[in-house]
Amino acid sequence: MSILKERLSDVMELPPETPQPNVYPLSWQSHTAKLQEVWEASLRENWDPEKLPWDTLDLDSYSWEERESIAYWWTLLSVFDASAPPVFAEALVKTYEVHEEDPVRKCFFSVTRDEQNHEIMCGLAITKFLGHPDPLTYEPKTELGKRLQKNARWLYYNGGRYWTGYKSAVPRYDLAVLFSSFLMGEIAAATIFKQMFDNSRELVFKEAFRNIGRDEGRHMAICMAVMERDYPKMGPDNKSVITKQIRAGYLFLSAVLFEPPMDFWDLPADFIDNQREAEEVARGAGFGIPTYEAKKENWRNAIINLKGVLDRYNIPFPAIPEVDITGEEVSDTEMDDIIPVF
Ligand SMILES: [Fe+2]
Ligand SMILES: [Fe+2]
Repeated sequence: MSILKERLSDVMELPPETPQPNVYPLSWQSHTAKLQEVWEASLRENWDPEKLPWDTLDLDSYSWEERESIAYWWTLLSVFDASAPPVFAEALVKTYEVHEEDPVRKCFFSVTRDEQNHEIMCGLAITKFLGHPDPLTYEPKTELGKRLQKNARWLYYNGGRYWTGYKSAVPRYDLAVLFSSFLMGEIAAATIFKQMFDNSRELVFKEAFRNIGRDEGRHMAICMAVMERDYPKMGPDNKSVITKQIRAGYLFLSAVLFEPPMDFWDLPADFIDNQREAEEVARGAGFGIPTYEAKKENWRNAIINLKGVLDRYNIPFPAIPEVDITGEEVSDTEMDDIIPVF
């Protein structure tokens, strides 16, 4: 143990100012009533994936191709949702470092908890449907299952590339900028889980999608409330970062909400065909993955909603020609710039 050379308390009546940013605010300011409401809703609406009606699930009513196809969709989702708990935990730390008001800290805590629930749900579905807790070391039973595992490996590789970039991006950007990326994921997620709920037959999945969709709706409300608070006073530098972020977020999130753009995602040529085949099999088994057209429509609507929000604050929107949206060209999209979350 080292001995303090200079004991300030011997020579000073009060301690010196603590250098900022300091990770803990001794302060519980509350200015945004909406955020307090969302926090309270998150407590009321808490759910436990392990307590869903798993006993109603009859695995023998599914063929192995169906089981592997449904597990594949959950694997695809978990490429995003299994990274969401650490991603939001990092953002939660930031809310403390910058001494955000108390309801913002609480809301970020709730998002972190929700995303872990989503990740737990992915794990339960995969483990039940494959009879194995890990889609990468599982031994496929069918030929389609083999190709899907190859897809899963490539997805995992791609998703793993952005954590380092994200960690270095969080301290660089204001929370206001981070929120634009979060909002993109939340808008789209809230819609896709609604569709999955409407179109799925299995009770345990319906329940899960109902809960996840409601969680994502709250996440969206959090983003909107913080944007309403901060965007009116935002400077032009942050605005142009947001334009770039939205383009990057589109490319990243397309993999789960639409289809992965191949110039951004490093995936083999047969990837899309395998995935489409699995989605068809899963749909046939009553698992409600939207069709290509429905996904495109959903994604386009989410983007138009987001554009509506950003237009209000005069933030230029990027061109997204993939879903017929014109705007500012953003070309130098790099993994480093990505702060998307689902
Ligand atoms: Fe989520
Ligand atoms: Fe979310």
